[in-house]
Amino acid sequence: MTAYDVIVLGAGAAGLMCALTAGQRGKRVLLLDHADEPGKKILISGGGRCNFTNLGCVPDRFLSANRHFVRSALSRYTQHDFIALVARHRIAWHEKTLGQLFCDGSAREIVAMLVAECAAGNVDIRMGHRVTGVTTGFCVDTDHGVFTAPALVLATGGLSIPKMGATGFAHDVARQFGLRLTGVRPGLVPLTFQGEALDLMRPLSGVALPVVACIGKTRFREAMLFTHRGLSGPAVLQISSFWTPGLEITLDCLPDQDARATLLALKASRPRAGFKTVLADILPQRLAALLAPEDGPTMSNQTDRALTAMADRLKDWRLTPAGTEGYAKAEVTLGGIDTRDFSSQTMQANAVPGLFAIGEAVDVTGWLGGYNFQWAWSSGWCAGMAV
Ligand code: FDA
Repeated sequence: MTAYDVIVLGAGAAGLMCALTAGQRGKRVLLLDHADEPGKKILISGGGRCNFTNLGCVPDRFLSANRHFVRSALSRYTQHDFIALVARHRIAWHEKTLGQLFCDGSAREIVAMLVAECAAGNVDIRMGHRVTGVTTGFCVDTDHGVFTAPALVLATGGLSIPKMGATGFAHDVARQFGLRLTGVRPGLVPLTFQGEALDLMRPLSGVALPVVACIGKTRFREAMLFTHRGLSGPAVLQISSFWTPGLEITLDCLPDQDARATLLALKASRPRAGFKTVLADILPQRLAALLAPEDGPTMSNQTDRALTAMADRLKDWRLTPAGTEGYAKAEVTLGGIDTRDFSSQTMQANAVPGLFAIGEAVDVTGWLGGYNFQWAWSSGWCAGMAV
């Protein structure tokens, strides 16, 4: 039987990075995954172009019960380190918006790069291996037999998109070894509504507009999309990670504008224009039609008071979501293996020598925009250097 120095469970972003780093240090690495090909989430990410990192990756773009945990890994393997790797493989990329870097071509190039780097480190990648249990030592039971190694890395990700093979396996193993977990919930996920709010949103399904979405002092200025179940789009996905049941969200549908001043100025400059026509110049047409269904009234018919009320409504739309679309639609899992039981330098469990956890399996969740992959690269690299 082949002897291994380390077994990495999960050939996703974090597991591949950990395996290639350890392999290139001369470690004998076995990488196991139950899927039929590595990096499946990388392949579907960023609409097939993989938003692989963010130029502005800083610790405060991450949510965790242990806020400072990410600092060390993010500073030891930075976005610039990953960009250099991408450049070495001649993968063309561009910045889309807000520091988000995407492949010009396909996410497949990122997976091919990681697999090639694993090959350079002689990593033994075995796909289609269902891991059924882990015991101290470490012994890993699979449907293809038992594998052993003195070090084990949990990189099986979180619960989002179970259809793609996501499981709570890493959480179960952590619990089995006496490690703590934080509560988990879907993150970067569309929000759902009921009653009057949904009646209003449903006819707008497919309409997108720039907004500022807020919960308390947390605010995101990005696009929002109406769906047949509620709200989605980057602004809403971002704010969803800060939402818990019962909390109200606030939407500013005319960001960067003094809506009252704009409407009063339009009344003065275009008194004979229809209210609906004027609204359609500053908002998507279907939203304008919903807010001013009648074609009749002109701007001059609108009292200043009515225009102020409309402005207030557009700047400060308060809504209480009924829920989220759940793990089936969530890009990430918030929470997970409690980082307080781990070294932030090595990702090793303090009380279980040889056991490491990286990527989405642990209680670290980035904002939308390439942050989650950067966490996978950074935490994977740190564990790969330490095993
Ligand atoms: P990941 O989920 O990638 O890998 C876990 C691996 O473990 C999988 O290969 C799985 O098959 C395997 N596994 C699970 N259970 C197992 C078991 N019991 N036995 C064996 N193997 C098992 N982030 C970002 O930064 N930019 C982006 O553009 C996007 N886009 C995006 C789109 C969509 C649709 C989703 C769902 C998510 C994103 N993300 C993203 C988030 C990003 O994909 C995510 O944070 C990382 O993939 C996490 O990497 P991990 O390696 O931790 O888990």
